[in-house]
Amino acid sequence: MTRPLNIVVLTGAGISAESGIATFRAADGLWEAHRIEEVATPEGFARDPVLVHRFYNARRAAAMAAQPNAAHVALARLEAGGPHRLLIVTQNVDDLHERAGSRNVIHMHGALNGALCHACGERWPAPPVMRHDAPCPACGRPATRPDIVWFGEIPYRMDEIWDALAEADLFVSIGTSGQVYPAAAFAQTAARAGARTLELNLDPSALSHEFDEARHGPATQLVPDWVAGLMG
Ligand code: OAD
Repeated sequence: MTRPLNIVVLTGAGISAESGIATFRAADGLWEAHRIEEVATPEGFARDPVLVHRFYNARRAAAMAAQPNAAHVALARLEAGGPHRLLIVTQNVDDLHERAGSRNVIHMHGALNGALCHACGERWPAPPVMRHDAPCPACGRPATRPDIVWFGEIPYRMDEIWDALAEADLFVSIGTSGQVYPAAAFAQTAARAGARTLELNLDPSALSHEFDEARHGPATQLVPDWVAGLMG
């Protein structure tokens, strides 16, 4: 039997693309149609909270209507099937990993299904349609925002992520363009700690050359093939 491996998988928008969720940097992606500063920064939210909520309410509706695809399902199978230990660190704010059955998931950029009070820090499940003037269930102030990490904010659970990368035998990046830090540094960090590194992406990313191996194609083919190879 193969030796159990510590595997850290980083996922990005590309893994959910074939579920019908728009990526960010494609020609028809979210950042073509919306300015990052307007909808994905604390300053943009302070300027126009109605616009920002409209943007994330639409993202939440799209995520709720989408279904996990074969790539999400394959990762859930890898976690459940053993013998390897798998941590998924996702930059995605949809919940398709969880709905496919994955349990060990870190949402480093937050989640659409969470609400956050920017006055007191309380968190609660997001309603389908969120409003900035909805009262916080803890402090009562009208300070509701999506529990999403915006540009200029610190991604969640970074200590756990750096620890997992330091202990990884294998680091796999799936469906991410490698343009946003700190996630873009994970491959090098894992490699320095001794992990083998693999990229699975539709086309070569900005960081392909940093990986020990890069395979290119749609996630719904590459990920099930890779998992099948690993599970034997
Ligand atoms: P991007 O839109 O930057 O990149 C998506 C990547 O997925 C690209 O490299 C595509 O080639 C690839 N891709 C597209 N379709 C695919 C498919 N069917 N199979 C495999 N790969 C495919 O999205 P991210 O890298 O996730 O942050 O973006 C990172 C962060 O930037 C996001 O979390 C978001 C954004 O600004 C915040 O909002 C804080």
